[in-house]
This record gives sequence, structure tokens and C-alpha cells, in this order.
Amino acid sequence: MDAIAFVQKLETFKTDRLAPIVGAGRTSLAGGAPGDAKKLLQIALANEISVSELAAAWMPSTPEIDVKIALARQAGDEAGHFQLVADRLSALGFDVAGFKVPGESPLFQYLKGLSTSVERVAGGLFTLESIAYAVNENFMAFCDQRGDAETVRIYREYIQPDERAHQQLGHRLLAKYATTPELQRAAREAVAKVLEIATAARAQAAERMGTACFPGC
Ligand SMILES: [Fe+2]
Ligand SMILES: [Fe+2]
Repeated sequence: MDAIAFVQKLETFKTDRLAPIVGAGRTSLAGGAPGDAKKLLQIALANEISVSELAAAWMPSTPEIDVKIALARQAGDEAGHFQLVADRLSALGFDVAGFKVPGESPLFQYLKGLSTSVERVAGGLFTLESIAYAVNENFMAFCDQRGDAETVRIYREYIQPDERAHQQLGHRLLAKYATTPELQRAAREAVAKVLEIATAARAQAAERMGTACFPGC
């Protein structure tokens, strides 16, 4: 299959597998599930720093210059998101100086272990960023329900346009590099695995938090 047709098919696959994650958030929203916005923003803080570190860690061992630069720019964007969320948390009275970068989750362990550019783009930019965009939409609806217009504004104006751009960049890079059956198989496997781990991890976290509306990266 040519790479462009392959990525289009992969988008459909990804959307199907994303549905349970999006659905869980919608169920929480519809049921008016409780949840502490400050706690949920701390999850965003952890996710943003983790994905910034991941992109930075991949950069030196990524030979293709356009992929390398995409990762560098993503690392910077995610650091910017960290700062935006940190500033919002400070305004809400949370002491960000006391925030500790969390240990590596199974999802980031898996991602860090990916060694080829096609797998990294498939798992990271293409999939993780789609999850982030989707779950952030539910988080924004959650904040909106609680009258927190400022958090919604920060996500709408700054964070979501970046997450969307990361995902689109992932699409373009896969269409360029996933050119053989082997590479396409590896890309599809990375997409499936990231969604599988993320779905399980988010379900567990939702039980702990009392809502599935927590943000991504
Ligand atoms: Fe992101
Ligand atoms: Fe982000």
C-alpha cells in the first residue's frame, strides 16, 4: 500500500481505538462526575513534562533531519504547555515549586523504548497527540461546567492548537516515511500499543480521580 493510503487507513484505526477513551470522558461529563480541577491540572503538568522529555530524549538518535526538528519543536511546545498550566495552578493557589516530576509510567516506558523514527512518530506525534487533543476537549468541557473560563481559554487559545499541529505533523511524517510493508506494520503496532496502554492507564486513573475528564499532554 502506498504511504499516503496507509496513513489514511491508520487514521481510521486510531479513531476507532480512541472511541472508548473519548466515551469515558463523555460519560463522566454527562453524569456530572465530581473532580478537583487543581488535581486534574497537576496531571496535565506531569503529562506535559513527560512528553517534553520524551521528545527531547528521542531527538539525538533520530537521523532524519525533519523528524529531528519536529521532536525538538515538540519538546519546546510541551515545555511551554507545562509553564502555562503551572501559571494557572499558581493562580489557583497551588504551590508549583513543590511539584515533583513523576516516575516513568508504563506508557512512557514503552514509548521511550521505540527505536525507529517511524515507530516514534506513530506512537508519539501521531497517536499520543491525538489522545491529548481528544481528552483535553473533555477536560475543557469539565472546566466549563464548573465555570472555569480561564482554564478553558488557555487550552483553546494555546495548548489545543499545538496538540493538533503535532498530530498533523505526525500524519505528514508517516506519509513520508512509512513506505514499506515492514515499516507500516511497525507503525500500526506502535499506534495500537500506545492506545492499548493509554486506555488501560486512563481507566485506572479515572477510578482514582472520580472522573475520566483529566487532561493529556
Ligand atoms: Fe502535545
Ligand atoms: Fe502539550
